[in-house]
Amino acid sequence: MKSLERSFVIIKPDGTVRRRIGALVIKALLERGYRVRAFKEMRVTRRLAEMHYAVHSEKPFFSWLVDFITSAPVLVLIFQAENVIQGIRDALGSTFVQKAEPSTLRGKYGIWAGVNIAHASDASETASEEIRLWTSEGGVVESDDAGSNALDYIERYAVGDTDFTMEIRSIVRDAIEERDTSETILESLTDLLRKDANGIENQEIEALARVIHEFVLEEIEKQ
Ligand code: RTP
Ligand code: MG
Repeated sequence: MKSLERSFVIIKPDGTVRRRIGALVIKALLERGYRVRAFKEMRVTRRLAEMHYAVHSEKPFFSWLVDFITSAPVLVLIFQAENVIQGIRDALGSTFVQKAEPSTLRGKYGIWAGVNIAHASDASETASEEIRLWTSEGGVVESDDAGSNALDYIERYAVGDTDFTMEIRSIVRDAIEERDTSETILESLTDLLRKDANGIENQEIEALARVIHEFVLEEIEKQ
């Protein structure tokens, strides 16, 4: 008999602020037959973000990554199934959105580069460590209601046809190509992120837009 694994998943701020997109990602994971053991919408402290991504603390993108994960709420889930770790990594696709196959979740819904919709554990040891950390520092708890809470979220938000992924990508791509550092870019990003952000504070939508804009400015500087 194969053993059951757990995978720790974060729908990052770009997937939580865009309510329908996050719901579609969770729906796609459920359709793979995975059981949900925990489901929680929460704001992430810098301390927790830094601990979660400690493995990247020496990387040049570390402080940007912490800004990103703490910019707006996230949805945290624990999935359980056989081979769930690799299965979710496969479903998400490559880390960088431009490199992710169009059939994958990051390929479909990711915004740009590392603004990539979701985190998922990369091995069973990291999954255990992440679950331990988010339980003690983030108040995440496993419960028998988690599956129905996830289904409620899908029922509420995976409706209609709101999807501004392509518009947001065009703004980012054009700004980088045209070396446009104007505030208009930030305003356009904020407007598009606000369109399906039920229950998200304005300042959080703006913080997420600023993090994406920051990335655009860094890309332009590198050119
Ligand atoms: P994750 O940990 O979020 O599931 O992503 P991953 O395993 O696919 O990628 P990893 O190498 O662990 O990187 C963690 C997150 O950091 C951001 N990143 N930005 N600008 C950059 O060069 C860069 N590299 C990584 C991404 O958000 C990535 O998911
Ligand atoms: Mg990783």
